[in-house]
Amino acid sequence: MPENKHYFFLIFLVPVLFLSGYLPAVSQEDQNSNDQETEWVSEFYEENEQCFKCHGEAKYSLYDEFSEREVHKLMCESRVINRDKYYISNHKSFSCLDCHDGGYQDFPHPVELRTEEHYACLDCHGYDENYAQYHFEEIEEEYVQSIHAELEEEGFNCWKCHNPHTYHISIRNTTNLHETIAYDNNICLDCHSNFNRFQLLTERDEINIIERHDWLPNQALHFGNVRCIECHTQVNDSILVAHLLLPIEQAVQRCVECHSRDSRLLTTLYKFEAKKQRTRAGFWNGAVLKESYVIGANRNLYLNIISITIFFLTIAGILAHLFFRMKAKSNQTNS
Ligand code: HEC
Ligand code: HEC
Ligand code: HEC
Ligand code: HEC
Ligand code: HEC
Ligand code: HEC
Ligand code: HEC
Repeated sequence: MPENKHYFFLIFLVPVLFLSGYLPAVSQEDQNSNDQETEWVSEFYEENEQCFKCHGEAKYSLYDEFSEREVHKLMCESRVINRDKYYISNHKSFSCLDCHDGGYQDFPHPVELRTEEHYACLDCHGYDENYAQYHFEEIEEEYVQSIHAELEEEGFNCWKCHNPHTYHISIRNTTNLHETIAYDNNICLDCHSNFNRFQLLTERDEINIIERHDWLPNQALHFGNVRCIECHTQVNDSILVAHLLLPIEQAVQRCVECHSRDSRLLTTLYKFEAKKQRTRAGFWNGAVLKESYVIGANRNLYLNIISITIFFLTIAGILAHLFFRMKAKSNQTNS
């Protein structure tokens, strides 16, 4: 019978130990990754400097052996890579040569590298358990049905929106929703307000974004509070960022799609927070959406409270266990 009691106790203890170990571990990890953001140094830092010494600056220098002097040249803007942004991007731990041919170590760069092939996202991330939470495969399925995928022949691909040297996830762990909105909108405006890049992919005339949205009152306010993809993609419940860019006739134009109790923003921009809040939310009660966001931002606080509580419960559990064992022992020796 004492044996059984022991097991019973274990059933209680194991999940508690697991949770109390796990939850602080999670918040610890958050903390560490924040610390590391300032201290982390790439193991390829020196190696990458070979490239950054030219591609990290507005100008580069060459030594001309014939005239025995150094000459300075401007690096064309589209070839400049910002070091700081590179080293906080998702692929910061990469060497340039993980993605680029070793031939780039020579200068002038060999001509045949101009048609260098690049890996696609799914070559590395597809069907990989470690990245399951991102649903790469479903994103790819959506992307191939999108308007932009028709421009693949012209060179459109995932990298056009996910800049290989600066992209980092934002909405997933946003701490400032306005920054995330600006970050995501700039991805689109990189082409849609820069005709030089736009015309690389299409014969179409320039599309004036401001004019094409002049039906929308208070445009600046709207573009600061919603992302382009809120109106231009099909709502998808299973992935966090919908990637099916719809033909223009299907873009959202009706105000009530957002300005209503069942706002589509609850299934797009506010997806994470909205799940908890849906029943309460009415959009015109603007504070509700703001409040739901604040709740999201406070999640760590709740996590901390829960984990501290569980920690003390565990200690109490262990003490109780010890107490009963000692009691049982002294009972044994007494009898
Ligand atoms: C001496 C300066 C210099 C160094 C060092 C240098 N590059 Fe470049 N790179 C350039 C210039 C200038 C261009 C633009 C002219 C051209 O395309 O050749 C360029 C262009 C490129 C391009 C674009 C080619 C294209 O066709 O669009 C890539 C990619 C590139 N470099 C990668 C690298 C990598 C990777 C390294 C490091 C291994 C590197 N470069 C080192 C000066 C340099
Ligand atoms: C994760 C893979 C990856 C890494 C790491 C990477 N690149 Fe790139 N790079 C690419 C891809 C893909 C393109 C083509 C982008 C496109 O087609 O829009 C590219 C394009 C370029 C270009 C041409 C200009 C441009 O932005 O399109 C230069 C220059 C360049 N890379 C230099 C570098 C240097 C220098 C490093 C290291 C600091 C580096 N790359 C690291 C994937 C990578
Ligand atoms: C050459 C292989 C390769 C390619 C191509 C590649 N990735 Fe990655 N990616 C990685 C690796 C490896 C990591 C983990 C890097 C690390 O932890 O330092 C990563 C990290 C990430 C992360 C962060 C994951 C996390 O949980 O921290 C995201 C998001 C991501 N990649 C998206 C993309 C997207 C989008 C593309 C295409 C535009 C792409 N990757 C292309 C190999 C690749
Ligand atoms: C038209 C632009 C565009 C194209 C093309 C595109 N993406 Fe994205 N993608 C975005 C935007 C915007 C985000 C949101 C970034 C953020 O805030 O984290 C995003 C986010 C993601 C994320 C992170 C989602 C998450 O759950 O955090 C992944 C993974 C991703 N894209 C993969 C891909 C892959 C794979 C392709 C190609 C098959 C692709 N994307 C093509 C614009 C694009
Ligand atoms: C690399 C450049 C590039 C990026 C980045 C980009 N686009 Fe585009 N987009 C284009 C081009 C080029 C076209 C014109 C396609 C054509 O020829 O009809 C286009 C077309 C469109 C159209 C019009 C479709 C139609 O039926 O006429 C919409 C809407 C659009 N893009 C929205 C977006 C959004 C939203 C984003 C960001 C998530 C984005 N784009 C990112 C280049 C880009
Ligand atoms: C509130 C919803 C909404 C938002 C936010 C929005 N759009 Fe639109 N967009 C539309 C609608 C609706 C149209 C079609 C207007 C029409 O038919 O007159 C349109 C038209 C366009 C077109 C014109 C396509 C063509 O073929 O003429 C492009 C490109 C475009 N949007 C890109 C963007 C970009 C980039 C952003 C983010 C900076 C954005 N949109 C934000 C709803 C939106
Ligand atoms: C994609 C979703 C979306 C669509 C579609 C949309 N709005 Fe909005 N609208 C918003 C958001 C988000 C705000 C900012 C709310 C806030 O103040 O926090 C906003 C703000 C406003 C405001 C300013 C309210 C204030 O507090 O000053 C007005 C007015 C407005 N919208 C009218 C319209 C009209 C009229 C239409 C249709 C032509 C429309 N909206 C379509 C999302 C949308």
